[in-house]
Amino acid sequence: MGKVQPAEWYNRYFKKKRDSYKRSPSESTVYALYRDSAEWAIKQNLPVVDVGCGPGLLYVELREKGFTGVYRGLDFSSEAMSIVESLKVAGDTKCELVKVDLETIKSFSPKRRSCFVVCETLEHLESDLDILAAIPVGSPVWFSVPDFDTASHVRKFASADEVMERYVKLFSVLVLDSVPIKIKGKVFHRYYVGVGVR
Ligand SMILES: C[S@@+](CC[C@H](N)C(=O)[O-])C[C@H]1O[C@@H](n2cnc3c(N)ncnc32)[C@H](O)[C@@H]1O
Repeated sequence: MGKVQPAEWYNRYFKKKRDSYKRSPSESTVYALYRDSAEWAIKQNLPVVDVGCGPGLLYVELREKGFTGVYRGLDFSSEAMSIVESLKVAGDTKCELVKVDLETIKSFSPKRRSCFVVCETLEHLESDLDILAAIPVGSPVWFSVPDFDTASHVRKFASADEVMERYVKLFSVLVLDSVPIKIKGKVFHRYYVGVGVR
């Protein structure tokens, strides 16, 4: 497996890929994740907290889909934050970015009831269970976790059952789906997507 990487590692990664984020999220190989989480979040009709927001593809997708509510992106990579800043719609006062180490969060405590998206992030964190536990009980949550390894993944999952076993105790309702990521028609990776209520 990979290992927990510091913010500097992500800064270097996002710096190298910076120009690619000028393209629409729909050109990403994992577009299904941004599309589905954005559609889900819009249906919640609540402020959106994007836990581990990275370069803000969910933010862009939400605004492209007409979501005008509050978007709050949390991440510890200053390079990722500066990419989201560069992609911000002019005059958008409802995009809030917070630089924070997620491993230190005890409670998210949003000002208003919010929904939470944790896309491609739990697998990068030792304290994935604590981070989900820090989401206020009763909040709608959408998360994804992968079936593959990288230099920054500390865990991967072989089946939806494994995902359910690890996370179900943190939810009052949890439904899992499997999202295949295809490249040239062939399944390359798989993400397990959890949708539920903390
Ligand atoms: C694979 S990226 C996912 C970004 C975004 N959610 C997406 O799906 O495009 C994982 C993100 O987790 C962030 N991350 C990793 N460890 C973190 C930590 N301890 N605190 C805050 N953010 C962290 C990284 O900076 C990176 O932006």
